Formats: sequence, structure tokens, C-alpha cells
Amino acid sequence: MSADLLAAVDPVRLRRARGAKWASVEEDVLPAWVADMDFGVPPAVTAELHAAVQDMALGYPYHPDGDPVVAAFERRMHDRYQWAPRPGRARTFSDLIQVLQVVVEHATAPGDGVAVHVPTYPPFLASTTRSRRRLVPLPMVLAGGRWTFEAAGLADRLRSAGVRLLVLVNPHNPTGRAFDAAELRVLAEVATDLDLTVLSDEIHADLAYEGVRHVPFASLGDDVAARTVTATSATKAFNIAGVRCAVAHVGSDRLHEALERAPLDYFGTPTDLGRAATVAAWERSDDWHRDLMGVLSANRATVADWAGSAGVRHVPPEATYLAWLDFAGTPLGRSDPAGAVHRHGRVLLSDGPPFAQHTAVDAATFARLNFATSPELVQRALDGIDRAMAQARRAS
Ligand SMILES: Cc1ncc(COP(=O)(O)O)c(C=O)c1O
Repeated sequence: MSADLLAAVDPVRLRRARGAKWASVEEDVLPAWVADMDFGVPPAVTAELHAAVQDMALGYPYHPDGDPVVAAFERRMHDRYQWAPRPGRARTFSDLIQVLQVVVEHATAPGDGVAVHVPTYPPFLASTTRSRRRLVPLPMVLAGGRWTFEAAGLADRLRSAGVRLLVLVNPHNPTGRAFDAAELRVLAEVATDLDLTVLSDEIHADLAYEGVRHVPFASLGDDVAARTVTATSATKAFNIAGVRCAVAHVGSDRLHEALERAPLDYFGTPTDLGRAATVAAWERSDDWHRDLMGVLSANRATVADWAGSAGVRHVPPEATYLAWLDFAGTPLGRSDPAGAVHRHGRVLLSDGPPFAQHTAVDAATFARLNFATSPELVQRALDGIDRAMAQARRAS
């Protein structure tokens, strides 16, 4: 079956599909940046979308018995993560960035502090800053060979910074950490002490590797669930970012009531194509997902071996298909590693600094590699990075 996944990794098809990842780069550049995968989509998703188009089912959505995405989300959280979402508290959105915006607007006021692990998904930093809230970074640090955050004195730091909202990205992008229950409990205690709202973005949960357990933040207890908005979608693990469909479970009574009062046009709405794709992904695509994780595990090992021999500091992700690479100890570390890899290796990585934008955290020596492609293209990407390093070595 993984043959089907790999057959979809066809550069001609990928460029024709006009997605940002492939279509926006020069012909001779291998794209390994934005978090889309090259594997196509599960057959059940294709079948649902074909059926919807065949039926010309493109009118305004109508779901008198409840949103099918909400029902699928509740079943999935229960069956896969042993967490029972509170009935009536989940609602669909078009995407997670909109969930962030809605939560920032309702849970904080201009000038309030918003704590977030940094580096992080760049649009969260940009959007929070645009909303005139103050970013309060929780720097990710390497300790004992894994990325984590400084827990000592955290409550005092966040209190003195006037934090009202904690944005937790777990599993974490770009480091790939799946925070363990002990780390999450530290955050939960701080949130309780300071009476914070927590937005827990768990979009990468289904991409946890074998032996790693994803713990939904809201599953830590009823009191934690009551201050948490859990946001997720099928878009990362099933490669359907273009269908624009996400779900958020609003644990806080106050926030729930505020959102209930807000007019529908305030939120925007997902499409029924997005709903159909999401339900097919979550409920009828286990085989595809199993194959996916096999391919990703092998690629993850390839990247880790390469990083070890190339002198690139890298901790293999516990979840996600993203490798956060530190070029500090290499000839590329001195300036703009992603730029040099683009120019001299003809590979497009995600540049490190935007993952720390608007904060004092330094990500200048980092770049992020997306390894959700065939083993051959992963190798080509690594060869391109090697070429850029060799060129920098010659030039120094
Ligand atoms: C942590 C995280 N949250 C959210 C998103 C994007 O979500 P959406 O496209 O639904 O806004 C991404 C995309 O890569 C992500 O990594």
C-alpha cells in the first residue's frame, strides 16, 4: 500500500496541482518548506469528494442533526486519545488561524500578554502581534537531548508579564516535541494559578511516531478542560490543508457563551467539501495513515543519520514530518542557512527566523526541513544541503 503513497510523489503532478509548496518555487528547486505532504490523499477522501461533485452537492450546508465533523471529532478523541469532549462544546471553523484570532479577541484585551513557546508556527506570532497583544515567549531549550521549556519560576514570569492566554502548540511545530504529561501538568498548574485561558493547538497529534503518546491538554482534568480551547483538524495528518475545515472544542463557559452570542458571519464557515474530506480522513483512512507513518519513520531516520554525520544539530521529532535543523556548528551557521541552501543547493527549506518573529528568541542559525516525500526526494534534499555546506566551506 505504501506504493500508492509513493506513486503520488510525482513532481509533474505536484507542480500541476498548483499547491503553494511546489507551484511557487523555480523549476530546478526542490521544495521542502510549507507543511504539505507529497503523498496525495487517502482514497476514501478522493471518493467522498468525487461523490459530492457528482451529486453537485455544492449548495449552502444544512446539518439539522448536528455537524458531522463535530461527531467525528468527538468519536476520534474518545477512541484514539481516551478523552471525552463535552457534548455541545465543539464547533467547526475554516482553519486554525481563525480559531486563534477568535480566542485572542475574546479571551484577551489589547495590551494583554499572550504566552507561546518560541520558535513556533509563524502565523501565530504575526496574528497575535497584529491584534495588538504582547507576545511573551516561552523559549524552547535543549535539555537532556530533548526540546523543552524552562519550568522553574514560570508562574511568576507569566504573572509579571501580564499574560492572560497561553497558546500551546502540542505536538510542537517546529521541534516536533510531543510534550509529556509532566510538562503539560506544569503548564496546567500555571494556567490554574493565573486563571489563564489555554488554546491548545493539537493539529499534529495524529503524526506522533510509534512509542509516543499524545496527551490532549484538556484530558488532564475537568478543571483544565474548563479553561481550554482544543483546536485541531485532519489537514496535517491526511494532507488536506486546501479543504479548509477545522474544529475547536471550547471548554470555558464564558468563551462558549460569547461565541454562542456572536453572529455566524463573524466566524466564516467551512465548506461541505471540507467536512466530507475530514470525516472520510478521520473515519475511513486508517490503512493509508498506517502506511504514511511507516514512510515518515524511515525518512525521519534518514534525516537523523544525515544530521549526525553532517554536524547539523537536530533532535528527531516525536511527531510531525518536520525537522528543525541547527546549522550553528556548520559553515552555513554564520548567515542565513535557508537562503544559502536555496541559492547553492537548490532546495527550499523554511527559514528559521520567522519562527521567532516579534520576539527576542534567536533562530538565525535554524531552518526547517519538510521530509514528507519519497525517500529519493529526501535524499535529494539532503544532498542539496550538503552542496550548500560544501560551497560555504570553500568560500570561507
Ligand atoms: C501548529 C500549526 N497550527 C496550525 C497550522 C495551520 O492550520 P490552518 O491552515 O488550519 O490555519 C499549522 C500548519 O502547518 C501548524 O503547523
